[in-house]
Amino acid sequence: MSQPSPTRSAHQAPSPDAAPPEVEPPFGPDLSIGAGTTTPYEDYVRASVLTHLQQLQSDDPGEMVFLVTTQVMELWFTVIVHEWQTAADALRRDDLPVATDALRRSTWELEALNAAWKPLARLTPAQFNAYRGALGEGSGFQSAMYRRLEFLLGEKSASMLVPHRGSAEDHAALEKALHEPSLYDEVLRLLARRGHPVPEAVLRRDVAERYEPDPAVEEVWAAVFAGSQDSELARLGELLTDVAELVWRWRNDHLVATRRAMGAKMGTGGSAGVAWLEKRARKNVFPELWTARSHV
Ligand code: HEM
Repeated sequence: MSQPSPTRSAHQAPSPDAAPPEVEPPFGPDLSIGAGTTTPYEDYVRASVLTHLQQLQSDDPGEMVFLVTTQVMELWFTVIVHEWQTAADALRRDDLPVATDALRRSTWELEALNAAWKPLARLTPAQFNAYRGALGEGSGFQSAMYRRLEFLLGEKSASMLVPHRGSAEDHAALEKALHEPSLYDEVLRLLARRGHPVPEAVLRRDVAERYEPDPAVEEVWAAVFAGSQDSELARLGELLTDVAELVWRWRNDHLVATRRAMGAKMGTGGSAGVAWLEKRARKNVFPELWTARSHV
């Protein structure tokens, strides 16, 4: 049986079948941990905060996974917003390597986010009803982080700030994000700086408005994808298409889970429920990246 390595950190876990350590701290495990002290792991991860955020509103045993899945998705939204903000800032500085690294990481994170639907994907109306009433008027529609994510995609709307009037901090962050260029705006500005004929009207558009597809931008992407000009930009276009597809998958997985769990009932947020989500899911992310493909 192997002995604990004398160089091992005092807080590294011993293997489960290891003999009791014969060395004293600082070389062996510090057995005082747990006796009222914290650990470097806890200082960094704040697991005790995270695992005390599950205040259930009903007695139903199925509510726990609903709440935790929602919390896990909020954390992924936070990571993805961070990546896209990093990418947008890097594109503004013409730093394509940093931007593509962040976008690529975001595709893996989006895959993890989408995989998190698994425990809720087959929720039945009877199971959902067991705790739905306890949610009151709470709805993902009121998620400030999801709204920032949509704003970064170019899906801007001042009216989406209304649910956040009660929180000065969330409202201010969303107001700022509303008036900042989206990730896609930064991509189009980069294309223009690289000599592509992106129309002035697109470059000078009011960034607080929803991005509307433009035929001249479609032509630019068709030329980029045809590979005759700048393959670095073609790779960026494909990476953004990956992002768009994965966002579309999240919206659709949400739509199907909702349809299974509550049919055509009204949403807790007061919307028409599935009918409203269907409309949202039909929106194309980065529209010209899709339509340009017909012309390559
Ligand atoms: C299967 C369980 C779920 C059902 C039945 C459901 C239902 C709904 C409904 C009906 C809406 C429309 C707004 C409303 O009237 O409430 C909505 C919006 C939304 N939900 Fe869910 N939801 C579920 C799970 C989740 C989870 C786990 C999240 C993760 C955070 C989430 C995030 C959102 C977001 C972000 C919106 C707004 C979408 C947009 O603005 O386009 N939902 N949900």
